[in-house]
Amino acid sequence: MSELKNDRFLRALQRQSVDRTPIWMMRQAGRYLPEYRATRQQAGSFLDLCKNAELACEVTMQPLRRYPMDAAILFSDILTVPDALGLGLYFEEGEGPKFHKTVRSEADLAGLNSIRAEDDLGYVMNAVRTIRSELNGQVPLIGFSGSPWTLATYMVEGGSSKDFANVKAMAYDKPELMHQLLTLLADSVADYLSAQVRAGAQALQIFDTWGGSLSAAGYCEFSLQYMKRVIERLPKEADGRPVPVIVFTKGGGQWLEVIAGCGAQAVGIDWTTDIAQARERIGGQVALQGNMDPSMLFASPARIRQEVDTILAAYGRGSGHVFNLGHGITPGVNPDHVTAFVDAVQELSPQYHQG
Ligand code: CP3
Repeated sequence: MSELKNDRFLRALQRQSVDRTPIWMMRQAGRYLPEYRATRQQAGSFLDLCKNAELACEVTMQPLRRYPMDAAILFSDILTVPDALGLGLYFEEGEGPKFHKTVRSEADLAGLNSIRAEDDLGYVMNAVRTIRSELNGQVPLIGFSGSPWTLATYMVEGGSSKDFANVKAMAYDKPELMHQLLTLLADSVADYLSAQVRAGAQALQIFDTWGGSLSAAGYCEFSLQYMKRVIERLPKEADGRPVPVIVFTKGGGQWLEVIAGCGAQAVGIDWTTDIAQARERIGGQVALQGNMDPSMLFASPARIRQEVDTILAAYGRGSGHVFNLGHGITPGVNPDHVTAFVDAVQELSPQYHQG
C-alpha cells in the first residue's frame, strides 16, 4: 500500500501533535454538490450508486477535489447492513429510507439472514479497495457503520421515525427480544467494520444518530453497551498503525463521561455541546470531533469564519481536536460556503499548535 502523505487526522485522533487542526465533514459527498447529483443520475438510484465501486469511488473523491479535506469517507450508507440482513431497503423520492419488512417479533428476528460482510456486503469492500487505490495515500480513508441501536430503530420502525414509538415499545416491553436483536446487530456490525479494515479503511466511525432519543439509563443499556461490544471485537491495527474509532452519538452531550469510557479513541459531539466544556470533561481521555452547527453554512462566509474562530478558541491549544460539523451537511448549502469553512480551519488553526 502507498505511504500516507497526510496523517494529520490520524495523529489528532491519537492526540499526537499536528501542525494544524485536521478537518473533514460528515456527509461530505452528497446532494449539495452538483457533480454528486450528476453521478447519482448516471447511476440510476442511490443504491445503485452505493453498489457500483467505480461510481462510489468517484463521489468519495469529489469533495476532495474541491476542498483540502484531511480525510475521505467511504461513500455508502448505514442501512446496507439491515438490507443484507434481508429487510429490503428502498428509497422513495423525498421520503427517506424505507424497508419492505420490519422486525417486531421473535419470528421476524428468526427470519433474518445470517451474514458474512466479506461476501454479503462484498460491494462495500470493493468500494473500499477501489477508493484506497485511487487515494494513493493522499489522505486516510474512514470506514463506518450505524450503531446497533440506530440500525435497530430503522429495522423496527421500517424507516425514519419522529417518536420511535415501536422501537421504544419493544425496548421497554420486550427487553429480551430487543437485546437479542442488538446482540445480532453488534456482531454483524463488528464483522462489517473488521472487513472494511481488511479492505483498507484506516479509521472507523460509528454513527449513533438516534442514541440521543433514549433516557440516560436507556442509552447505556440499549446503545452504549452494544457500541462497546462492537469496539471490543475490532482489529486494533492495520498496516502497523492503530485504527482509531470515533463514536458519534447525536444528542449525547449529557453523557460524555460514559461515552469516553466505551473504548473509542474519539468522541464526536454535536453543536449543542460546548466544546470547551467537553474538553474539560473528557479531553484527557479521548480526542474530540466537531462541532459547528451545519446550518451555520447558510450564513455568510464572514460569519462562518467567525464561528470557526470561536470553536478553535474554545477548544484551545494543542492536539486532540478534529474539526467537523456537529452533524451531516444539509443538501441546500452553497458549495462556496464550504470553501470558506475549510479555508478558515486551515488558516486560523496553526496558531493553536505552535510551540
Ligand atoms: O459522510 C459521507 O459523505 C458518507 C456517506 C454517507 C451517507 N449516509 C450517504 C447518503 C453516510 C456516512 C451516511 C450515514 C447515514 N445514513 C446515517 C447516519 C449519519 C447521520 O446523518 O446521522 C443515517 C441516519 C442514514 C440513513 C439515511 N440514508 C437517510 C436518513 C438518508 C436521507 C434520505 C433522504 O432522501 O433525505 C439516506 C440517504 C443518503 N445517504 C444520501 C446520501 C448522500 C442521499 C441519497 C440521495 O442521493 O438522494
